[in-house]
Amino acid sequence: MPHLLDIEKLSQQEILNILTKADEFIIRDPQTNKVSYKKSDSLKNKNVYNLFFEPSTRTRVSFEAAAKNLGASVINIDVANSSVKKGESLKDTSLTLKAMHPDALIIRHSENGVPEFISEVIGENTAVINGGDGINAHPTQALLDVYTILKHKKSLDNLKITIIGDVLHSRVARSLIAILKKLNCKDIHIVAPEILLPAPANYFGKEVRIHKDLKSGIAKSDVVVCLRLQRERMQHALILDDKDFFIKYGLTMEILQHAKPDAIVLHPGPINRNIEISSEVADSSQAVILEQVTNGVAIRMAVLSLFIK
Ligand code: CP
Repeated sequence: MPHLLDIEKLSQQEILNILTKADEFIIRDPQTNKVSYKKSDSLKNKNVYNLFFEPSTRTRVSFEAAAKNLGASVINIDVANSSVKKGESLKDTSLTLKAMHPDALIIRHSENGVPEFISEVIGENTAVINGGDGINAHPTQALLDVYTILKHKKSLDNLKITIIGDVLHSRVARSLIAILKKLNCKDIHIVAPEILLPAPANYFGKEVRIHKDLKSGIAKSDVVVCLRLQRERMQHALILDDKDFFIKYGLTMEILQHAKPDAIVLHPGPINRNIEISSEVADSSQAVILEQVTNGVAIRMAVLSLFIK
């Protein structure tokens, strides 16, 4: 398959291959716990273009670091100063980039389906990688989330995984649920108010149980995933009060006591302290949020290695 557009298009074996490949690239000194990445020139003479129409720190920078660790050249397209601002269509921008023959094009866009549209225009000689599109998909985030969970829990069998917060606007939640289902995880839970859930109630299928109450939803969880309130995607009618949200759905140490004592806490970032997660939880030893970032570079090295021809 030439492109990485969403988790649904990957087979279970392809997912496992990416996770295994990532292990080749991350080196942890057992004495100091210091992490480094295994550098090579395996992608020498390859060009990776970053085309980000929405803000990003983790995804854009980690794709750049991943590409450079493998010896590729990276071009960060400055969308704000590109011909997009002069009215160039997405199709014409894609054709223009195609004429420069990138080996990989990483795309983030606020609208669902833009990476897929660009992949159809650009063809099979460029690996189009979805760096997050609208509320639709964020496949490399899901891969690094599962990779991080497996570093702590060894197997997904019998794990209770609970996702809290703004699921309605979350491409992260959609891709995470998709990958967990592909890997046969059977105990997936969501805790959110009705207005932050997609309709219908069984939208995510029978593997996913929905809760309104945080304490009962999080009870005995092995893995807790917090989501940011994605205000940039909310219609005005949906805007919630931050304080009210934190009281009802914020992850505090007190609430985390209801999960298992060895539960880990994930968050895709950027975190909004004391809105969806307390500072105490974010900075606690149970939080693996910065480990997710570290692992994200290795996952993106794996993805570039496997998808660039
Ligand atoms: N998780 C994530 O996609 O973060 P960025 O928006 O910083 O890339």
